[in-house]
Amino acid sequence: MNSSVKVVPLERVSQPLLAVAVDELTSAKVPTSLLSLDSHMGGAIGRLLSSGDFAGTRDQVAMLYPPKRPHRVLLVGMGTHGEITRGAIRRAAAVAARRALGMGAEAMAFCIVPEARGGVSPQTVGQVVVEGVAQGAWRLDAFKATDHKPGVGGLEIVAAREERAEVERGRKVGAAVAAGHALARNLQALPGNVCTPRYLTAIARKLGKAYGYRVTVLGREEIAKGDLGALLAVAQGTAQDPQFITLEYRGAGARSAPLCFVGKGVTFDAGGISIKPAEKMEEMKYDMSGAAAVLGLFETLGHLKPKINVVGIIPASENLPSGTAIKPGDIVRSHLGKTIEIVNTDAEGRLLLCDALSYARKFKPACVVDAATLTGSVVIALGHHATGLMGNDDQLVAEVRQAGDLAGERCWPLPLWDEYREQLKSDFADVKNVGGRPAGTITAGWFLREFVDQLPWAHLDIAGTAWTDTERPDQAKGPTGVGVRLFAELVLGRAGG
Ligand code: BES
Ligand code: MN
Ligand code: ZN
Repeated sequence: MNSSVKVVPLERVSQPLLAVAVDELTSAKVPTSLLSLDSHMGGAIGRLLSSGDFAGTRDQVAMLYPPKRPHRVLLVGMGTHGEITRGAIRRAAAVAARRALGMGAEAMAFCIVPEARGGVSPQTVGQVVVEGVAQGAWRLDAFKATDHKPGVGGLEIVAAREERAEVERGRKVGAAVAAGHALARNLQALPGNVCTPRYLTAIARKLGKAYGYRVTVLGREEIAKGDLGALLAVAQGTAQDPQFITLEYRGAGARSAPLCFVGKGVTFDAGGISIKPAEKMEEMKYDMSGAAAVLGLFETLGHLKPKINVVGIIPASENLPSGTAIKPGDIVRSHLGKTIEIVNTDAEGRLLLCDALSYARKFKPACVVDAATLTGSVVIALGHHATGLMGNDDQLVAEVRQAGDLAGERCWPLPLWDEYREQLKSDFADVKNVGGRPAGTITAGWFLREFVDQLPWAHLDIAGTAWTDTERPDQAKGPTGVGVRLFAELVLGRAGG
């Protein structure tokens, strides 16, 4: 999507759609900043407001058709006056873009009435408006051979003259984040026969080439040679070559410790010998959503070029049952050296992640954050409205949580108390890969923690937030791209804005 910032009176906007975000109206009076647009429209806004049909509550929309350009004016509600946050603005932008997409508008303009903006800075407005519009305008149609409608290709943010430069600065950040977000969603949506481990490699290599950072890939043989035994164990049941992908973005000096992001890249999870039920198994194509988030982040980094070092690690494999697959009871040796009794082959994510987390030491990172569609139990604990957050470092966990709040990707902490560790004790190996039904998300987190060697680490269980089955006013059903915006906020926070 092309975006730009423009200083123009609202009645002179020439886009096919002008969206105007307002907060909840306390009276039927037209906000001062909309008076001249209203008179240009023959008082249509005033009539709408006095009809009582539109009050500016969250997600509320009203379409007006002026006699002249702009051809359509869409009022979008953001919610209670005085409580408008960056999240409310992003959401309104997304709601507007979904409407624009629905009616086939190929471009749109967006503005927020200044009365509603509260304490949100012009730069933040620029950023979240692009993020929101891109989110709302995204659609899943790559695999529909027929029925191609044009998308929303252009966005014009209408700004006040004195704020133009700041809004423009935010717009650039938003465009970079939105590009990464869209990449992640597109990847998530791809079926397992297209998005294989090697496909993830191809994307990583393409990014590395486009933006000039190093991408290194280990295949099955090198994974074996590199003693990534837990990853290798998952991969032994599939003919698809597993891939261990690392991306190294350098925006700061060699001595500056990188941030490290690890993403689960199971391109299809049938469960292995502990096979899943057929019902909804097709959804397990999105078991690479953590990997998609890491690749999305690297797209964003390529656009933004922040002054910081970032490493991405993606352990990728399929998890299938076969005559060569791992069996319940098998014992394997991890990269760290600890042995693992594999009691359930469907708990494969923690196996490939544990090796990646131990491998991360090589880069001497300042911290490691992983994202993984790891457990069904996180959906039981938090539903689809929050990502499960765990870690070994309270400060990092707080930082991740704050980044999630800024990103509109809320996380909620779960405790890694020592008592839970007991559930992973094995009679035969150092640890077993499942801890029973109680607190399944926490025992998965504890398993990972066993393989983090002395580094500050945080873990995001995105199994409940990576995909939505229901249409929302601000987001189509399907892949959410969760993680990209959170990672980006974390990186920007550490890079100093
Ligand atoms: N990929 C699944 C988790 C998952 C479930 C992701 C639902 C998205 C939606 C993971 O590999 C898995 O199978 N976990 C098992 C763990 C169990 C065997 C301890 C689960 O959650 O049932
Ligand atoms: Mn599984
Ligand atoms: Zn899985």
